[in-house]
Amino acid sequence: MIREWMTIINHQLIASQTYLLEIQGEIATLVDSPGQFVHIQVSEQYFLRRPVSIADVSPVKGTITLLYKVMGEGTDALTHKKAGEKIDIVGPGGKGFPVQDINNSKALLIGGGIGIPPLYFLAKQLTAKGIEVTSVLGFRSEEDMFYVKEFESLGKVHVTTNDGTVGTKGFVTDALPSLENIDTYFTCGPTIMLRNVKEKLKGVPGYISIEERMGCGIGACFACVLETPAKEDGKGYVKVCSDGPVFRPEEVVL
Ligand code: FES
Repeated sequence: MIREWMTIINHQLIASQTYLLEIQGEIATLVDSPGQFVHIQVSEQYFLRRPVSIADVSPVKGTITLLYKVMGEGTDALTHKKAGEKIDIVGPGGKGFPVQDINNSKALLIGGGIGIPPLYFLAKQLTAKGIEVTSVLGFRSEEDMFYVKEFESLGKVHVTTNDGTVGTKGFVTDALPSLENIDTYFTCGPTIMLRNVKEKLKGVPGYISIEERMGCGIGACFACVLETPAKEDGKGYVKVCSDGPVFRPEEVVL
């Protein structure tokens, strides 16, 4: 993990309050797995860095693509940054999905809202290994949808929207495909969604990426701790930023 002023290459609105930010720099060469994040300092006025998952990496261009949603003043200020400007980034942080250990043939990806971006980078890496990917992507409404075509270029996609404007009306758990042919699932989204997915897919091997508000992002402040079910290690908790954000479902209490 390093700190670097990365150059903005592309910055555009892609859905309601949702932006694509492509940044160039050495950090792009250090990303080792999908699910890792970068920590952005928007400006000195916003002291706390914002963690944003990496949605894609281009080794050729030396860029990282981030997809973020405006959640408050800090992310709103970020929307005003323009191509050519530099931005203060620390990363890549955390431990991502262990693609190198996945050797089976059928994967189910389940993403909700702004939990979807890291699954795109994951889908690209899994399909590159010859793994068949089916994705279930959940949005609030049609205007919030993004990257559906990109996922469709990698495999089968089911869309859900809370208001039924596109796809199945309801939540991702209302549109899960038959699990008979699924070897492993991968999910990222709000905690309530992760809890429901974990419950519905009990018995299926999986990986959960947790979206948790962070402080330091480097394991020093305890702002992101989660309880673990097994206390054999005597610790009883994990830090999302440094032990995760990707965990096996049985490793964390949601
Ligand atoms: Fe500080 Fe995780 S954000 S320990």
